[in-house]
Amino acid sequence: MNMVEDLKKVFIEKMGDGGEILAFFAPGRVNLIGEHTDYNGGHVFPCALTIGTYGIARKRADSKLRCYSTNFESLGVIESDVKDLAYKKEDDWTNYVKGVIWACQQKGFPVDCGLDFLCCGTIPNKSGLSSSASLEILTCKVITDIFNFDMDGVEASKIGQYAENEFVGVNCGIMDQFAIAMGKADHAAFLDTATLEYKYAPIHLDGYRIVIGNTNKARKLEDSKYNERRSQCETALADINKIEPVSSLGALTEAQFDELTYAIKDPVNIRRARHAVAENQRTIRAVQALEDNDLLTFGRLMNASHVSLRDDYEVTGIELDTMVEAAWQQDGVLGARMTGAGFGGCSVSIVKEESVDAFIENVGRIYKERIGYAADFYVVEIGDGPRQL
Ligand code: GLA
Repeated sequence: MNMVEDLKKVFIEKMGDGGEILAFFAPGRVNLIGEHTDYNGGHVFPCALTIGTYGIARKRADSKLRCYSTNFESLGVIESDVKDLAYKKEDDWTNYVKGVIWACQQKGFPVDCGLDFLCCGTIPNKSGLSSSASLEILTCKVITDIFNFDMDGVEASKIGQYAENEFVGVNCGIMDQFAIAMGKADHAAFLDTATLEYKYAPIHLDGYRIVIGNTNKARKLEDSKYNERRSQCETALADINKIEPVSSLGALTEAQFDELTYAIKDPVNIRRARHAVAENQRTIRAVQALEDNDLLTFGRLMNASHVSLRDDYEVTGIELDTMVEAAWQQDGVLGARMTGAGFGGCSVSIVKEESVDAFIENVGRIYKERIGYAADFYVVEIGDGPRQL
């Protein structure tokens, strides 16, 4: 029996039989380079993965929203009402589903009937591979198909971000939702977050594989310093604007930023802003390097990204630093860095195919020795965006 059939059985067990039962999938994502640039008007370069979130759904005649996740079986079926949606801590993971339905209602997509909805995620929870954005975009896809809405991927990513910002209360940028909603197999999306202009770049890593290392240090954006970093960048930009009008940190080259740093009052904020400016420029250069088939430069820019996130942005921590610094020492590694928000979560490395086994063994051993518990590794593939199965 395949996975979808198994999930449908669980769905019927929990929600009852009858009606039209549909199956969906939305991927997770990994960002190759361009970290903490998306709320600074800079560029990002993420791709969707073949792991993600499965959803089984059925429209209801009333306005009840009934959700069940095979990842949180002990929570049972969590019930709310699409006519009365508010963030409730006890509603746990279903707040993302509720948030998206609420955001759709706010943005002119009237969800007036309820749903029975079962989810099953294959992304490790809290790993920083965007299990929450995957759930948001999955919910968008379910709603779009069930209610016959005309919503494209860019609109869906805006709705997902709006739900996360205004309903869940995390001030995230648009990268995760965009990477997932617009995912394309074997491609990464080079997105300018200031304009939402984007292009796909083929990822031909001939003879290399993308290896994700999970530090297993759980992180949640809600309780991380994510919102604080964002406001430090905003304060730096406001200081710069007292001297010269600048639309975002992403609008500056490193040389332009250099001439304006004296305007930023807090030395910590100078470092935060310097990361945002340099990381954006690095991302532009990295995509160019990839287009020129210069994988060596691409890898070095990944390494430089980590150094900047470690020293200027300070979002790595001992777990990610140990893992990435061990990765740099291994044979056949083109580049390695933390990926996602940081503060735990995952690293991404580009590793020569024949070195992958030794890489996982060595980095895993060093990590366990120094940190005291094991890391997990996944060799991933770049997959497509959300779809009905
Ligand atoms: C999280 C956020 C994204 C982005 C990254 C850091 O994943 O959801 O919007 O800011 O962190 O690059």
